[in-house]
Amino acid sequence: MERLNEESVKVINEIVAAHAGEPGPVIVMLHEVQNKMGYIPYEAMEAISKATGTSVADVFGVVNFYAQFTTAPKGKHVINVCLGTACYVKGASKLAEAAERVTGAKVNGTSADGLFSLDATRCLGACGLAPVVVIDGRVVGSCTPQKVENEIKAIIEAEKAGA
Ligand code: FES
Repeated sequence: MERLNEESVKVINEIVAAHAGEPGPVIVMLHEVQNKMGYIPYEAMEAISKATGTSVADVFGVVNFYAQFTTAPKGKHVINVCLGTACYVKGASKLAEAAERVTGAKVNGTSADGLFSLDATRCLGACGLAPVVVIDGRVVGSCTPQKVENEIKAIIEAEKAGA
């Protein structure tokens, strides 16, 4: 396993120390680690386990239970492709394929350059706009493979330009 850098270890230790005396500290600490670091590294689970007297397995169980926690770093840009029924029947799988092709990331994975994470999601509650893709929190409705490609290419161009 790759070791975390000192800065990350410091962030984890500060979070753990700040919440050690609070009720329900495991979930509070996990939330803050996720927010600050974008994921929950194993070292954070160990530190939380030690500080709270909860086994690492139990901390891991909490991480696994809640969808908002992830154990792998996300890419700089996150693309959610809705694969709910309404979107699926309107060709969402073609959107996922287009996103995979342009980003180099697999669905539910992150591209090798760390630029994109591609997540398949269930219904986003915007079926009237199906098929829907959410790019960095922005909803792109009535989406087509071409639209997805253009959106992602624009991000890549902006990144190259140093935006
Ligand atoms: S199925 Fe995609 S938004 Fe509802």
